[in-house]
Formats: sequence, structure tokens, C-alpha cells
Amino acid sequence: MPDYQPIGVFDSGYGGLTVLKSIVHQLPQYDYVYLGDNARTPYGTRSFDTVYQYTLECVQHLFAMGCRLVILACNTASAKALRNIQQLDLPRIAPDRRVLGVIRPTTEVVGNYSKSGHIGILATRGTVTSESYVVEIDKFFPGLHVYQEACPMWVPLVENGEHGAPGADYFVRQHLDRLLAKSPEIDTLLLACTHYPLLLPKIRQFAPEGIALLSQGEIVADSLKNYLHRHPEIDEQCSRGRTLRFFTTDSPDDFERQAGLFWDTPVRAERLKL
Ligand code: DGL
Repeated sequence: MPDYQPIGVFDSGYGGLTVLKSIVHQLPQYDYVYLGDNARTPYGTRSFDTVYQYTLECVQHLFAMGCRLVILACNTASAKALRNIQQLDLPRIAPDRRVLGVIRPTTEVVGNYSKSGHIGILATRGTVTSESYVVEIDKFFPGLHVYQEACPMWVPLVENGEHGAPGADYFVRQHLDRLLAKSPEIDTLLLACTHYPLLLPKIRQFAPEGIALLSQGEIVADSLKNYLHRHPEIDEQCSRGRTLRFFTTDSPDDFERQAGLFWDTPVRAERLKL
């Protein structure tokens, strides 16, 4: 096997860094490549076909960099592109490579966190309208009551580094209030967009006490660990050099500056030309 076969982690922008962080923490031995499609973010407001086309293009770039396994660390891409990529594209273009998403691992466990059986989902418009969470949760936790709220302003707030600013309060409250008004029994809120952990301090500030807030980083990292354990044929194709490279489809300078909000150490970014 070639020396360098990193695990690819993809997002429309910076949000997937919240997932990558948990993955690297749990599985530090592998090589990783992160790709943010910052030039075309946000995906959450785009059509099914556009998200599918953009995501497939980025996955192919990650394959060209040597990835045998790619994680779509983006709910919108997982909701709108993953199934087509797995069922239509991979058998044709790369039958021996794998692409995984973040929705399935989350829906497998989300019901375990709620006592009342009523959970709220905060996500992009694309994820909400795809109904992916509602359909998938029903497979693992039939009977669980699921309420959704699309938060179209939240990703732009994070992408523009305004998530901690006082101006963000209005939009955080607006969507929290709308979601919680759908049922007084909601006791768990799932942050079903990888950008939203950056808004956690504000969400915590405005959510009523006693409501559990669930981010996906740990859940996805646990699930990946388990997947690699169950699939030694994939695991042995992932190189173990403990390296980390960051690519962006937009300005590396901007990426380095913004990624600092998500990452504890300085980040060096490279440009991927689409
Ligand atoms: N981070 C992505 C997600 O998890 C969405 C960001 C976007 O709208 O591009 O859904």
C-alpha cells in the first residue's frame, strides 16, 4: 500500500472541524486531510442537485489525494448527497473506497439521551426539508417525537466569525423559541449541523435549564472507531503517520484565520483549485 492514505474529512466550510477535532482526539494514529469548500459555502440553502454535485466533486478530490475513506462531516451533504454517492457513484468510480456521513451515527444513539421521548433538531434548511433525521430516527427509535427547526442564519454567523457577537443573540433566541414552542416536552436538543457547536455558549445561555444539548463530534468519532474495528479491510488501508493537512477551496489566509476559532493550535492551509 502507498505510504500516505489519509482519512478525508469534508465539510462545506469550517463546521466539519468540530467533528475532525473529536475524531483526531479519539483516533490520533491516522493521517487526516480536511477539505472545506469555503468558496461555495453555505450548502444549507442550496438545491439537492447542487449539493450533490459539489460534494461529489470534493470527494473525488479527496480520493485523488489518496483517501480510501472519506467522512462527510456535514449534515447537509450527508442528507442530500451521501446516498447517491454510495449507491450510484462509488460502484462506478471507486468500488474499493468508502464514504460515510454523520446522520446515521447520530440517529443510532440520539433517542438514548431523551427521557421524555421528545427531541428537537436544529439544522440547516436543506437538512430539515430532506426529512433525513425524521426518517432515520424512526428506524432506530420508533415512537420518539421529533421536532425540527431550520436556522438559516446560524451558518453565516459562524462562517463570518460573528457567532459570539451580541448580534447573534437575536437569531439564536428566535430559532430556539420557535423550536421549543412546538412541544413543551422537548428535553433534548440535537445540534444537527457541524457549525453549531460554535454557538453552544449562546444556545446554552438561552435554552431553558434542564434541556440537554447534544453535539455530534463525539458521536461521530465513536462511530468511526467502531466502524474501523468492524472493517479491518478498510482500517488497514488508512495510513498511520499522525499527520494533518487542511485544504480549502477559497483563500488559505482566510481559512487559517477563521480555523483558529475551531482549532486550538495554529492551522496551515493549502488551496485546492476546483
Ligand atoms: N456544516 C453543515 C452541516 O452540518 C452545513 C453548513 C452549510 O450550510 O454549508 O449541515
